[in-house]
Amino acid sequence: MAQLSQPELKARVGAYLAGQLPDGAVIGVGSGSSVQAALKAVVRRVQEEGLRVRAVVSSLEGEAVCVAAGIDVLRSPPGPLVLAFDGADEVDPDLNLIKGRGGAILRERMVAGAAERLVILVDDSKLVERLGARFPVPVEVFPEAVAAVTRGLQRLGASEVTLRPCTGGKDGPVITEYGHVMLDCRFEETFASLAPRIRNLPGVVECGLFDDMADEVLVADQEGIRSARRGPAGVRWTRVATW
Ligand code: A5P
Repeated sequence: MAQLSQPELKARVGAYLAGQLPDGAVIGVGSGSSVQAALKAVVRRVQEEGLRVRAVVSSLEGEAVCVAAGIDVLRSPPGPLVLAFDGADEVDPDLNLIKGRGGAILRERMVAGAAERLVILVDDSKLVERLGARFPVPVEVFPEAVAAVTRGLQRLGASEVTLRPCTGGKDGPVITEYGHVMLDCRFEETFASLAPRIRNLPGVVECGLFDDMADEVLVADQEGIRSARRGPAGVRWTRVATW
């Protein structure tokens, strides 16, 4: 079989996730291209099978897709979400994550925290031995606090802190949906207390280190999909689909 491209792997893991959603559920929808692929498959089920779901979303992009498909978008759900799905930029062997390439970490973490089960959708290029190996840690910051937070991040060991530039449609830095800016931080070493210490810096709104939040990671590769679930005896891997 020809090598599957990254978008194709994302489409397949998204379709797998969509197939698992129970009828009548209130779901959490994260952001990024893997989520968009999954959402497309959810919309297909809504239109072809009459699946009924309501959604809490973490970005305007996801909201637009849901609204166009007639999926009710809830601002503040009355109870916990049955399941939330999201993507990630890196996944370590304990299923800790780096998120935030899309600049939506504030609501992504709120949606993840409101869910009974958080399922992360990735292709195997996202698996790393240690967080920060490839991807910088994104930190969402009040614009007025950039200089002070940068110094704080350097004190915590960041070797490089970059104000994320906007690459199209606007000059200057990326401005998030809540009017904040993003700092991308290189850490040669990440450690267990790093995330709370970053969140504790005055002026920090959110940080892209999502420790201990994923219940399951679905990993698409050239053979199929593997599921990694966190349990009392550690992380258990099983193959759940083959092409
Ligand atoms: C959005 O802010 C991110 O956290 C994304 O979920 C993450 O960057 C993964 O994106 P892709 O699914 O597009 O790779």
